[in-house]
Amino acid sequence: MRIERRLLRYLTPRGGWFSLALATAFLASLLDGLIVVLLIPLLKYLFGTAGALTAQAPSRLEDVIDWVLRPLIAGATPGQAAARILSLLVAGLIMKNVFGYLTKQIQVAIQEGLVRDLRVALFDHLLHLDLDYFQRTRAGQLISSLIVDVDQVKHVVTAALAKLFQNAVVIVVTLIILSQISWRLTLLVLATAPFLVIGMRQLLRRLRRHSRARADERGVITSTIAERIGAIKLIRAYGEEAGELERFDRQSQQYRKKVIRTMRFSSLMSPVSEMFGGLLIILIIFVGMRPSIVGGVPLSAEAVVVFLVAALRVMSPIKKIAEFPAAMAVALASAERVFEVLDRPEADRDRPGEVPAQFAQEIRYDGVAFRYPGGPKVLDRVSFTIPKGRVVAIVGPSGAGKTTLVDLLPRFHDPTEGSILLDGVPLTQLTRSSVRALMGVVGQETILLNDTVHANIAFGAPGATREQVVRAAVAANAEEFIDDIPDGYDTMLGERGTRLSGGQRQRIAIARALLRDPPILILDEATSALDPASERLVQEAIDHLMKDRTVLVIAHRLSTVRHAEEIIVLDNGTVVERGDHGALYRAGGLYRRLYDLQFRDEPLTALEPSAPLP
Ligand SMILES: Nc1ncnc2c1ncn2[C@@H]1O[C@H](COP(=O)(O)OP(=O)(O)O)[C@@H](O)[C@H]1O
Ligand SMILES: [Mg+2]
Repeated sequence: MRIERRLLRYLTPRGGWFSLALATAFLASLLDGLIVVLLIPLLKYLFGTAGALTAQAPSRLEDVIDWVLRPLIAGATPGQAAARILSLLVAGLIMKNVFGYLTKQIQVAIQEGLVRDLRVALFDHLLHLDLDYFQRTRAGQLISSLIVDVDQVKHVVTAALAKLFQNAVVIVVTLIILSQISWRLTLLVLATAPFLVIGMRQLLRRLRRHSRARADERGVITSTIAERIGAIKLIRAYGEEAGELERFDRQSQQYRKKVIRTMRFSSLMSPVSEMFGGLLIILIIFVGMRPSIVGGVPLSAEAVVVFLVAALRVMSPIKKIAEFPAAMAVALASAERVFEVLDRPEADRDRPGEVPAQFAQEIRYDGVAFRYPGGPKVLDRVSFTIPKGRVVAIVGPSGAGKTTLVDLLPRFHDPTEGSILLDGVPLTQLTRSSVRALMGVVGQETILLNDTVHANIAFGAPGATREQVVRAAVAANAEEFIDDIPDGYDTMLGERGTRLSGGQRQRIAIARALLRDPPILILDEATSALDPASERLVQEAIDHLMKDRTVLVIAHRLSTVRHAEEIIVLDNGTVVERGDHGALYRAGGLYRRLYDLQFRDEPLTALEPSAPLP
């Protein structure tokens, strides 16, 4: 029930339209009933057997019909009367379909609005989930939820509800007609309903479970496609086409099985309810033909015809109502997947009580420890202070925790112990948006969007003019290659920027950070993909950029951090040495070892004229 109620909440804003749909559906069903009712006088005038229609003659229903129709058929011959009733019947039919069409249109509008709301809510939620979630969840599952699951959900609310209501009206109207002919028969019809409900329940439980499994499997396939497209070069380079095909074939096979299993149950709904309806009609005819049960008088020919028409008419709505839970089961399985994501607490949104960040003095790490969920400590007892305007380098072996350390500053994660203070205020008391607005981040992986060069540089500064973008590109030493590509700044970069080399992409990322002109700059191996020549160019740009800024720079090549005012050496998550290049080199610790190791490995790039200091 919980999921249903939550879905209803999404309908509340559309209450007005929903009521309108219910009203038109009601009118359509009423007209539908009217068409059946009109059969009574029509048959009466056609066969000329007035008054002998029901077992309990004269029935109230007939009196009402006679009274309503009197102006229409007063003074007419039975033939004319039949013709007039027939035209009324056709008019009713047309009106019924007009209202039916209107209902459908409103329903679609409500449904698609609901789907849009749910989709946008899900996307909004994703934008604010903790980073950790994305590392544990395959993108394909989320894509599948955003595209297919939210779309499935619409069947729950509008289609099903309106249909349920519409069909319930038809059933009630028909039952009234039936009860006028024989209330005993009607009771009999009603008495069979619980059997249908009980019979369906078992089926539905399984259907829901299998639908869920099918939706999960669909997510697996979507994930595989998305991931393999991203890894196409890898697959080719290692000749894994056949292996990948086999894996994909296996997953498709798996999905096929899940679909067939689901369909086995959903297809069973229709025959089961149809069989049930058939048996019901046989029961009606069987019982109706027995005067002892229907009330003493055998039913007339017209009575049987009307009764059968009514009973057959009621079949289709009963069937639809019986199928309604099946549609529900499939949709609820999808809704469950959507709500599972929506139920994850949003970790990354400004909270009440957080205040805007100020940065005039210093950044301080105070006894910071951090562990990724379920993992060991990757940082421990990290304490240091960076006065505003200082350039600090962080070095250490790969896996030492350098990236994690700088990721804590824009609050990509919060420390598990200790705190990071900005001008003495813990980051956790500051809004993420204001903290991040102070920083430009160039990460280890350059992330480019499938957009123009201009848009990629201006990301995060949407109002930037072309002039500002060009200035940033010049400062990042990217101007030259941008001018060389066909459409310059208007060139579309392919999916994930595949049209650029690694070094070019890094320079775009640097230009992007420069354009924001942030007081704090975080460079995490921002020049690692550059060749020594362009690295020197970019390094110049960075040196220029570092002026008047507070910088945390992680550099792969130690030659590039030699000029940092302070170097923090990290090993195994703890700070093992601190100082400037000269002091650290002389100390002969980890820094010295790393430095010597690099010079041995890369004698050509590192042997600058001013190289090895003391
Ligand atoms: N998202 C993550 N989830 C779990 N462990 C992680 C994650 N990112 C990094 N680690 C682990 O944290 C440690 C430090 O990683 P990282 O900060 O990237 O080191 P560095 O940047 O110095 O190479 C490593 O042992 C790594 O395996
Ligand atoms: Mg790293």
